[in-house]
Amino acid sequence: MDRIRIVGGNELHGVIPISGAKNAALPLMIASLLTDDTLTLENVPHLADVEQLIRILGNHGADISVNGRRERQGESYARTIHFTSRNIVSTTAPYELVSKMRASFWVIGPLLAREGKARVSLPGGCAIGTRPVDLFIEGLTALGAEIEIDGGYVNAKAPEGGLVGGRYVFPKVSVGATHVLMMAATLANGTTVIGNAAREPEVADLARCLNAMGARISGHGTSTITIEGVRSLSGARHRVLPDRIETGTYAMAVAMAGGDVILEDTEASLLDTALEAIRRAGAEISETNSGIRIVRNGCGIRPVDIVTDPFPGFPTDLQAQFMGLMTKSTGVSHITETIFENRFMHVQELARLGAKISLSGQTAKIEGVSRLKGAPVMATDLRASVSLVIAGLAAEGETMVSRVYHLDRGFERLEEKLTRCGAHVERVSD
Ligand code: UD1
Repeated sequence: MDRIRIVGGNELHGVIPISGAKNAALPLMIASLLTDDTLTLENVPHLADVEQLIRILGNHGADISVNGRRERQGESYARTIHFTSRNIVSTTAPYELVSKMRASFWVIGPLLAREGKARVSLPGGCAIGTRPVDLFIEGLTALGAEIEIDGGYVNAKAPEGGLVGGRYVFPKVSVGATHVLMMAATLANGTTVIGNAAREPEVADLARCLNAMGARISGHGTSTITIEGVRSLSGARHRVLPDRIETGTYAMAVAMAGGDVILEDTEASLLDTALEAIRRAGAEISETNSGIRIVRNGCGIRPVDIVTDPFPGFPTDLQAQFMGLMTKSTGVSHITETIFENRFMHVQELARLGAKISLSGQTAKIEGVSRLKGAPVMATDLRASVSLVIAGLAAEGETMVSRVYHLDRGFERLEEKLTRCGAHVERVSD
């Protein structure tokens, strides 16, 4: 199994191209099941999660062709992928496929809307909390679906004549359930209003793509989304928006290691709250024509307290990375996680590098140390694993991160992007 070896101590200088957002690409790919026409997505990142979803969509009958695959060293992996689901050949998403990635559960929306039924295994995914599906069930029920859970599967059935528009106010913000309800409502009879909807940029990106396919969605990007159902959707061409989590991760890497880097093909407005926290920690951040420039020279890392929240708050997907940064701050900082109840698994691994962190409920107290020392550590989930890489960049000596398949789920060519900026990061195959 591959491992990542980091020798800390180098500053980062250069340009890092930011990939298309994984968390936008996945729901966009799933939306292709809503039409018998071709949906073409540009700027799709080359990641294990995308490959897994390609297999899942294939199981439902999607014909998928990939263009523009560039394998050359130093070039982007961004790909254009065409999805055509002329006929849905199966409305069942089996355990073997769904258990590998939680987002694959989201096929329930399009299958139910287009075929009137779906049988989808309860999901798996990162072990960062219980992650139930109650909000999906309540939301789809509000559109008239009858749903039962049986033998580890969610069986959903639309009324005769299809789903019907309805009103549903989420008791808690859920990105995935907002995606699913929005997709399902595009083909419902009548108008649907979703209250307390997720405002994440990836939700707005999905709505823009669905509208290009002929849907009638408004209010996306706000907490009330209105969807007027249409009879059918057509194909479209859509470019996946930049990955704000990857952007924030590299910004934190530069803040940690020091240096001067341009993050290309991304937008600061996608992650204002996180960039503000990095600025307060002592890095200079400015916008360029094509992205963001981040500089940290000499000065120490200042302690900054953060609380994760749904967008536009500080993203939970950057919490572990920010903790990595705070391990070397010049004082005491606090990080409170409000989205997932078990998202502190990186704490004990960061401690192996010499970090001083104590946990009290959902809050971590980080006492900055002046030096970290490299050690063998284990990746526990997607975002936690990259926090170990960030810490390793500023640790003395060698840090060896095992179980890097977690990283491969969400970070395209991580070691190459960092190496090109002067970091000593390499993949080691056993
Ligand atoms: C998405 C992101 C993930 C990110 C998360 C929060 C993708 C592929 N994944 O995950 O990277 O960390 O948003 O920004 O886009 N919940 C319920 N019942 C439900 C559904 C969710 O209680 O039916 C809870 C979850 O357990 C969690 C919270 O709601 O505590 C938010 O989860 P949600 O926004 O749904 O996360 P995902 O869509 O799975």
